[in-house]
Parts: sequence; structure tokens; C-alpha cells
Amino acid sequence: MSTTCLHTWLPGRVAACPWTLYLIFFVGAFTVARFLLKTSFVLAQTFVLHGKNLDKFGTPKGSWAVVTGASGGIGKEFALQLAAAGFNILLVARNEVALTAVAAEIGSNTAGKVEARIQLMDFAKNDPTALTELESTVSGLDVGILVNNAGKWHTLPSYFAETAEQEIEDIVTVNIMGTLRVTHAILPGMIQRKRGLILNVGSFAGEVPSPMISTYSGTKAFLSTFTSALADEIRPHHIMVQYLNTYFVFQVTKMTRFQKSSMLAATPAAYVHSVLSKIGLSCGAALSDRPDTLTPYWSHALFDYVIYVVGRKAFFTSYFHRTLTDYRRALQKSDQEAKQQ
Ligand SMILES: NC(=O)c1ccc[n+]([C@@H]2O[C@H](COP(=O)([O-])OP(=O)(O)OC[C@H]3O[C@@H](n4cnc5c(N)ncnc54)[C@H](OP(=O)(O)O)[C@@H]3O)[C@@H](O)[C@H]2O)c1
Repeated sequence: MSTTCLHTWLPGRVAACPWTLYLIFFVGAFTVARFLLKTSFVLAQTFVLHGKNLDKFGTPKGSWAVVTGASGGIGKEFALQLAAAGFNILLVARNEVALTAVAAEIGSNTAGKVEARIQLMDFAKNDPTALTELESTVSGLDVGILVNNAGKWHTLPSYFAETAEQEIEDIVTVNIMGTLRVTHAILPGMIQRKRGLILNVGSFAGEVPSPMISTYSGTKAFLSTFTSALADEIRPHHIMVQYLNTYFVFQVTKMTRFQKSSMLAATPAAYVHSVLSKIGLSCGAALSDRPDTLTPYWSHALFDYVIYVVGRKAFFTSYFHRTLTDYRRALQKSDQEAKQQ
């Protein structure tokens, strides 16, 4: 539509002032162009483009990947897939039996070509001796990748006022202090070697304030801000850090206890594959002013895109509130049924 045509459409006062007309036209064109650009970035990064090659972070030079919370769920899958990519793996968590089994699986999957060691650590204890042990283990290793995955969720979604103090403390200590301490132990070596990748496993609950799991939501928001701040500090040392914006991942995970399959739920294997093939990209978080956030799994990426296009986080906060209230009821019901049997 030409501007002459627009003149005939608009109210008299606006049409009389061509600058107003040009302003409306340019603001409209800019908004549409921005929307189209964002849409094409999200689609291209999620469905077409490949991220950085993992070799950039150490393989095949015998580098190590440190994975916290590697005894099950997403962490175990990171360990298996990074081992398949040629990294030696340091598996960190509390459960020795489960960690030993993951180490054995890595050994048999890679015909012994990859070394897997275990480090027992309880992040909830915030124990300085355990941290010193971790520091001494990693001081002799060329750590190329750190995956800060260990995380604690609420036992049951609950209002903050009703959440047990110990649970609040454990969630904060594991999710925040665990990540900070492990990163602090490993980062100096990466800076010396001038290369490295740090992946902080986050959650949509860190991006959209989530009632009923407010402590968890707050810890993930902390990780999101921490990641962006750290990214700018360590970029000159050729080290990359990304916040992994994650929606549901289940099947073998103990954390969510969700049973029903849904398009928004990824299996740990598919989720981790999507992360490792999109390093350095943003996918669903593209052009949303979150340059160090990666929403890699396709359905999570589309959901992230919708949240930012709608632009009203409060709407999604209410939606999460309702969903988590229903989830709480379902969990309580299934626990009651289990007790009666
Ligand atoms: N699953 C989802 O839908 C989902 C969605 C968004 C974000 N996330 C995030 O993804 C990460 C992994 O979740 P997941 O679903 O795979 O959970 P998961 O199956 O319950 O595994 C959690 C891991 O963290 C470790 N861990 C928990 N408390 C620990 C502690 N005190 N000290 C050391 N390690 C501890 C556990 O190992 P041990 O028990 O052996 O110590 C386990 O290996 C978490 O950060 C979570 O917030 C998950």
C-alpha cells in the first residue's frame, strides 16, 4: 500500500502530518521485520543449523568432561553421549553404585577407549573437604567440558509458606552453591588452556516465575543471570558458557514423576542429543535478548518462541500455577492409592 493510499485511510489530523504517517509506517515495518527475523532465526537454528563441533573443546586430545548428577536421568545421558564423542568422563554424584554402573557402561560402549572415573559428592552438604578432593582430582586433568546438571526439585509442588525449611535449603545449596563451587574449581584450568565449554542445566521455571515451585524457580533464574554475567567475563579466554532452557525431560528421570507422554516432553537421550548438536546457537531463545541461553529441543524451542512472542510472562505464570496445582493433586492421589494397596 502506497503512502498516498494510506493518507486516504487515516484520520484527518494524522494524514495532515506526513511525519506521523511515516513514523507509524516505519514502526509497523520494523515490528513486522523483527518478527519475521526472529521467526526465521528460531526455525533455522532449531531445525537446520548445526552448532559448534565438540572437538573445539578438547577431543581428540584426551580431554575430559565433568558431569555432575551423572548417576541417572539427563546427567547420565550427557556422560554417555560425551563419552561417545571421545571425551574421558568424570562422573559426579552421591550414588556410588549407580555411578559405577554408568562408568562400566561407558567402558563397554567405547571398548575401553574412553576412561570414566567417579567422584562422590553430596552438594547438599556443601562440604569443603569434598570440594578440595574434587579440586585435586581435576587439577591433573585437561577438562574441556563441564556440565552443571545436578539439581534438586521439590518433593511435591507446594506453596512457599508450606515448604519445609530443609527442602528450601537443599534446593538452594544443590542448585546454586553446587554449580558455583564446581565451576569455581574447574574454570581456572580452562582459562589456562584458553578453551572450554560450560553447560548449566536450567529450566523454563528459571525464565517464567513458577508458583508452587518458587524456590526451585528462583534457583534456576539465578543460574540464568549467573550464566550471562559469567559468559561476558570468560569470552575473551575462548570459553563458552550456556544456560540450557529445559522443559519436560522424562522417561527414566526420577525428578518429575510425570507418566504421560507429550509432545513437550523429550527423552533424556533426545534432549541431550539436541543440546550437543546445537552448542553456540540459541534455537528457541534466538533474538530474545538472552544471548547465552540455548533452548535446543524442538518442541521446547517452539514453546519458548511462543512465550516470547506473546510477551506476557504473567499469563504463563498463571498457566504454570494451574498446571503445578493439578500435578500436586495427581501426585497426592497416586501416593494415597499406593499407600492403600
Ligand atoms: N527432568 C525434567 O523434566 C527437567 C526439566 C527442567 C530442568 N531439569 C534439570 O535437569 C537436571 C537433571 O534433572 P533430571 O530430571 O535428570 O533429574 P534426576 O533424574 O533426578 O537426576 C538428578 C541428578 O542429580 C544428582 N543429585 C541430586 N541431588 C544431589 C546432591 N545433593 N549431590 C549430588 N548430586 C545430586 C542425582 O544423583 P545422586 O542421587 O546419585 O546424588 C542425579 O544424578 C536438573 O538440574 C533439573 O533441574 C530437569
